[in-house]
Amino acid sequence: MKLIIANWKLNPTTLNEAIALVSGLAHLMKVEEFERIVILPPFIFLEELVKRFKHFKWGAQNVFWEKIGAYTGEVSLPMLKGVGAEWVLVGHSERRLIFGETDEDINKKMNTALEAGFNVIVAVGELQKDDHSDEVIKSFKKSITGADKSKLEKLIVAYEPVWAISTTPNAKPDNPARSNQIIGELKHTAFKMFGEDSKKIKFLYGGSVNAENASKFLSEPYIDGALVGGASLKSDEFYEIIKKS
Ligand code: PGA
Repeated sequence: MKLIIANWKLNPTTLNEAIALVSGLAHLMKVEEFERIVILPPFIFLEELVKRFKHFKWGAQNVFWEKIGAYTGEVSLPMLKGVGAEWVLVGHSERRLIFGETDEDINKKMNTALEAGFNVIVAVGELQKDDHSDEVIKSFKKSITGADKSKLEKLIVAYEPVWAISTTPNAKPDNPARSNQIIGELKHTAFKMFGEDSKKIKFLYGGSVNAENASKFLSEPYIDGALVGGASLKSDEFYEIIKKS
């Protein structure tokens, strides 16, 4: 049973469209599938979607580490908890590249969110396609350092090579065997950091996952699930991915 997470990014524009998207998906889904599907809508739709669609798991695409105060434009963990969100994504490459977030920022977000009881998805991935994985391993280590060992079953790592994300110019999905190998290296690194407990961390692949290629990624042994962007915005296509997982 693999974990499938929908990252809607800055989509759709209206709450009605968001509701239509989730209803369309809910109609297609079997009861037993809901427990491994997480949806990350824009903040502003979360409260209403959580209320209306209780069977899904809900989360935010970002969060700030401080609880309250003079931080214009930010959203806190207690606010997310208050609307019923239990998951949060930190360190997406768009946060890193467009909004200048560093591994240190992401690490603070990861640690505070894990301590607050959230399921935390930490995204990492290299900018350019090349043969070595040093860059991603380094960023991975910095991003997850200090994670509470007793909470690792709530830590999820999404390996998302930036060059494979569908909105990057000339993007192509990674070769599933290559992602599997990098995720294997990340698992090995996590083992060196946290020992046996590291086996509780789930590792996902993200980057142009669609109905056609999902089963290839999801049948790889080290890949525990997928983080899906563009293809999660169409109920039919997203459900095809769920079916293949
Ligand atoms: P994509 O996005 O599936 O559209 O490539 C994945 C992501 O950026 O999380």
